[in-house]
Amino acid sequence: MVLTQSVLDASSTMLERLPTSIVESESVACKRVALEIADLIRKRQAENKLVVLGLATGNTPIKIYQELVRLHKDENLSFSNVVTFNLDEYYPMSKSSVLSYYYFMHHHLFSHIDIPEEHINIPNGEVPKENISEFCKTYEDKINAYGGLDVQILGIGRTGHVGFNEPGSHMESVTRLVKLHPITIMDATREFSREELVPRRAITMGIKSIMKAKKVYLLAWGEKKAGIMQQAVEGPITEEIPATFLQNHKNVETLIDGDAARELTRIKRPWVVSVVNWDEQKAKNAVIWLSQKLERPILKITDEDYRKNGLGDLLAYGGDSQSLNVEVFNAVQHTITGWPGGKPHTDDTNRPERATPARKRVVIFSPHPDDDVISMGGTFLKLVEQGHDVHVAYQTSGNVAVHDDDARRFAEFAKEFASDLKSSNDLFANKYDEVLSDLENKKEGEPDSLLVRQIKGLIRRGEAASGARFVGLNDDHIHFLDLPFYETGKAVKGVPGEGDVNITKDLLLKVRPHQVYVAGDLRDPHGTHKVCFDVVLDTLKELRTEPWISDCWLWMYRGAWHEWPVDEIEMAVPLSPLDLKKKRLAIFKHQSQKDSPVFPGNDSREFWQRAEDRNRATARLYDSLGLVEYEAIEAFVRYPFLSSEAE
Ligand code: F6R
Repeated sequence: MVLTQSVLDASSTMLERLPTSIVESESVACKRVALEIADLIRKRQAENKLVVLGLATGNTPIKIYQELVRLHKDENLSFSNVVTFNLDEYYPMSKSSVLSYYYFMHHHLFSHIDIPEEHINIPNGEVPKENISEFCKTYEDKINAYGGLDVQILGIGRTGHVGFNEPGSHMESVTRLVKLHPITIMDATREFSREELVPRRAITMGIKSIMKAKKVYLLAWGEKKAGIMQQAVEGPITEEIPATFLQNHKNVETLIDGDAARELTRIKRPWVVSVVNWDEQKAKNAVIWLSQKLERPILKITDEDYRKNGLGDLLAYGGDSQSLNVEVFNAVQHTITGWPGGKPHTDDTNRPERATPARKRVVIFSPHPDDDVISMGGTFLKLVEQGHDVHVAYQTSGNVAVHDDDARRFAEFAKEFASDLKSSNDLFANKYDEVLSDLENKKEGEPDSLLVRQIKGLIRRGEAASGARFVGLNDDHIHFLDLPFYETGKAVKGVPGEGDVNITKDLLLKVRPHQVYVAGDLRDPHGTHKVCFDVVLDTLKELRTEPWISDCWLWMYRGAWHEWPVDEIEMAVPLSPLDLKKKRLAIFKHQSQKDSPVFPGNDSREFWQRAEDRNRATARLYDSLGLVEYEAIEAFVRYPFLSSEAE
């Protein structure tokens, strides 16, 4: 789905208190911001003046920095007249740490441009505690001495923070030491590997410091930011969501991509704010919304209900409530199938999958070694039971998510087994000593050695194979791709490239699938699931001239934490209590992820519990709309990768 600015019209923004543009993509927006900054730099150069930039770290602005570096290298943009002030730095934090914002800024920008070192200002995470308030005052005074910030770039945290101004920050706040919110700590865990390694505090510019900037860009990408962006853009000004203070800024521009805009009223419930050009999908969306709002099954909604809830126009489009209700009810009904590979020898006009060929070749891509069974274990089982030729491909090794003591236990096992066999004993003993010393000498935040990573990867491989065998696959249908982009040994991964695509291509050319399943987690543009999704998509696009590709359908499932909105679901596979039990047993094969995994997220439930709760919730939702009551449902959305829409 590509949303562009054309979605915006005057009436649709009446609820929006921040001027917001929905941009085609993160890249397009970042290029635009970089160009505007470059224009200002050049203009000031001509006047022999300085430009003062307020900079942010994190994933959001990276592409702006990439573009600025490109402009410097390819188009001679000089930064000699640029002074920068960064928003924040963790505290305590050493400048030499790869996790510091000091490192981040040099790595992404400063080391590649000609900015004078003395023009760079970043809050100092090394300052002794007793000197912090003096440091903060000097920082603030220095910004003012330069005449304030010309431009401030801002990302937004899921707490609504800008800079590290967490909920509760005062509108008069200036540069100071702050405590990070638990959600921010959790989000930073990806960089720091373990939650307890994330610093609990930071030095940040305040709301007042930010508000003084002459121009502010607030940026957000990905569905993960959709909820907080809705509150920042449409909600009242409140200390609880510090980004809402920006509503009072005279020159703020908010740029968000289609995924981050999903919760805005103009996208989610456009009929509330504008005249809607009704079509089937919008009608479905509105009727389901109404049914949920009224807590009444679709077939029981009346004309009056439509009228009272701002949907009078929809009645005009649909004729009357009865025909509308039946149309939407049927559309939802037709998503349900117990035959995810298509039901052979039946009329498939109203079924989500084709009846032919009766036996399909299927590839299930699993970003981590357990996503297949966690997210679509029930469907996986059905596809195999219904006789399809099913392959599973584990895209990454998952080796960062294994506890050290598990690696040690397996190394010990190998050593003792070899000694029992009285064969190559020395070799194993040496390796074991190496593993032990690697684990013992690992410093906080450092990646594992290659040997330890190999053991951890093998542990996950064994579990994945065991899960897939349990589902009924033979070993020649179980593939481990070990995509190179993942192999950094750290929570932050590399950039995917040709190597990743080529590995994926080899598999697809071998299988020539009719169905491909991928994790469609578009929520987090920088997470492993999204990268894995993009790799498959890029590969399929490269294979577009293959004769089998026009018969290949791409189905997206979602990861452990969230489900598709019900109006978007295109295939709903019901699971019986027995199906659910089998699925649970398949998930149990992933022993290293049981009880307390290395990356639990902010959810104390185990993966099998999250999966079951979510699948049961989807079934309850279908039930509440007035459809048949099932124990659980796994849901899928089709991605039309060959159509122009997906380009
Ligand atoms: C970073 C900063 C933070 C981030 C925000 C979003 O200097 O001040 O407010 O902008 O946490 O982080 P990302 O961009 O990683 O989603």
